[in-house]
Amino acid sequence: MSERQAEVREADAAPDGDGDAPAAHAAVIAPEVLEEVAAEVGTPAYVYDGDALDGGVRRWTDVASPADVLFSVKANSNLSVLRRLAGTHGIGLEAGTWGEYARARRSGVSADRVALGGVPKDEATVRAVLAAGVGLAVFQAENEVEAAARHADPNRPTPAGVRVLPGIRAGAHPSLETGAADAKFGFAPDEVPAVWRRLAGTAGLEPTTLAVHLGSGLDEVSPYVTALDLLLDVAGELGGDGPPVRALDVGGGLGIEYEGGAGADPDPGDLVRRLRRRLERRASGDAPRLRFEPGRSICARAGLVLTRVQYRRERAGRPALVADAGYSDFPRHVLYSAHHDIRPVRGEGRGPADVAVLGPTCESGDVLGVGRSLHGVEADDLLVVRDAGAYGFVMASNYNSRPRPPEVLVDGDDWRPIRDRESLDDLWRGETRHLLDG
Ligand code: LLP
Repeated sequence: MSERQAEVREADAAPDGDGDAPAAHAAVIAPEVLEEVAAEVGTPAYVYDGDALDGGVRRWTDVASPADVLFSVKANSNLSVLRRLAGTHGIGLEAGTWGEYARARRSGVSADRVALGGVPKDEATVRAVLAAGVGLAVFQAENEVEAAARHADPNRPTPAGVRVLPGIRAGAHPSLETGAADAKFGFAPDEVPAVWRRLAGTAGLEPTTLAVHLGSGLDEVSPYVTALDLLLDVAGELGGDGPPVRALDVGGGLGIEYEGGAGADPDPGDLVRRLRRRLERRASGDAPRLRFEPGRSICARAGLVLTRVQYRRERAGRPALVADAGYSDFPRHVLYSAHHDIRPVRGEGRGPADVAVLGPTCESGDVLGVGRSLHGVEADDLLVVRDAGAYGFVMASNYNSRPRPPEVLVDGDDWRPIRDRESLDDLWRGETRHLLDG
């Protein structure tokens, strides 16, 4: 299959609105609150701004029905965050694993509002989720379809989706690009009709949805328009005999401008309006619903890592701050060279932009950020690593036997812990009962 060009016609390319995306999804937390949090739960800690989480959801629900917005649980799976997003605002949840599915349910969301996402799944996952009940199960490889055929319950049909590999390079970081023709995810367009027929012919499964996910951290809408065209082409090739395509799920992936202000973030409204226009132009009769699986664009801006400087050091003319948060707590710079704004809680950073912010683990590569204007920051000062609400805590590890940090939710001047710092017992859970004699 050839790579499709991520191009759209001129008429589709014009953005709507005045271009001023709302910034209500960015965390604004008073220094006194951060100091109080640091004093009571210690550092490092993840801190989320409830208003910013609400603002992140509203960017989507202002332009799409809550039922068509499925927050991607992998971005932030804290139970209270899920409850805030899905419970308060009525959006659904996309879960890629049994653990994410279980978290979604544990947060209080009913099974019909959870989708099992189109990521690689083993038989046990498919079986468990079908047995527990789910609003939509998206399959993206043959083994999953076969597992579903073995375990679907004819007495309780499950709506099913097929993930299509669109063959689009959408401009994500190479590790996060998922739509290119050689990616491991999904069925090639010409394989979809047979999969659709197989699902339709299986008692207990009802194909309803074609899905894509182009990658993560995208700053342009045009690849989504190209993907929608492809999904409509594929839908057209399914023929009129089988069950109709009721929904087109364009996945997640809309990014934020990590190196700019929240006002410059790609606007979900722009995405939704452009896709709707395209759909209206192309679909005849009953148009399928458009569905979205945003993660980062809802919650990235709402969270930060609160960390205390342990010491300041200058060797060979290279100034550095060594913080108590490191890459085991927040690995995005190490994994993707991601840039996250780092600021002192009090005052402003100053001086040349040549200060590195390093973590405490036993590797020189443990870096939170480089080239920062943070002269004047001293030992014991508090820093925040901003825009860490997505793919932050969920990617923390216990490397160096460091307990994972607590999570805190702030609402105005009030705050409450929503997860404790891990204890030593948490560190060796599952080991002590196997401890060798001696
Ligand atoms: N749907 C599917 C099927 C996905 O695989 C993903 C993310 C999403 C939705 C949500 O994408 P978002 O809107 O958050 O971009 N650890 C990486 C991100 C990995 C994303 C994987 N899939 C990071 O720190 O940037």
